[in-house]
Amino acid sequence: MTQDTHEQLEQSLLACSACHLRQDAIGPTSYNGTPYSPLAIIGEGPGGVEDEYGVPLVGPSGQLLDKALTSVGVTRDKIYTTNIIKCRPRNNRTPTVEEGLFCALTWLDKELALVQPKIIIALGSVALKYLLSPNARITKDRGRWFTTKYGIPAIATYHPAYLLRLTGKDLVKGKWEVYYDLKAAVEKCAELAPDYLLKSPEPPDLLALYSRRREERQTTKRL
Ligand code: URA
Repeated sequence: MTQDTHEQLEQSLLACSACHLRQDAIGPTSYNGTPYSPLAIIGEGPGGVEDEYGVPLVGPSGQLLDKALTSVGVTRDKIYTTNIIKCRPRNNRTPTVEEGLFCALTWLDKELALVQPKIIIALGSVALKYLLSPNARITKDRGRWFTTKYGIPAIATYHPAYLLRLTGKDLVKGKWEVYYDLKAAVEKCAELAPDYLLKSPEPPDLLALYSRRREERQTTKRL
């Protein structure tokens, strides 16, 4: 299948079985939001809820991400959300750098070539390592702008799954850091795409939006 448009690319991606990760997942997951956004968020890889629905960041991490985005005036329908890894690794383990490299070279690079966002937010270590360097460290490198190989400016922040594991003072500190990183991204986006509205009046109900895909995937799983 040709992959000239974002839709064609998505169809090819949803049929991918290019590596071993496909065997343990219900199927590859694609993106959510809009491919016409100047702002892209890149997460790690699908968890259980994402594998069920076929889209990234709609489970517990996605819900925390939504709250953080609301605090800086962003709704998910106005941005492009995707992952480095498209298939859920068995038992939700963290994908290796090599798995990230293989999947992102196969899919993410093509997605971004079509979407051409003006700003990228890397969520967590796996995204940071692919977009900046395998030696990058999220604790050291979050909150600092860097230029990706696509020539697109990017900033990394903590992954919501990491925040969900913190408590007490560490949690408060982590949440503020994420807030400042997201705010910096939104401000830069406003500079580079001044006419684009990052917030719609009604935040989307992502689970309702993709319930049909979920049903289809349940059927495939049973076959
Ligand atoms: N974490 C991610 O990085 N992406 C998802 O889709 C779900 C959890």
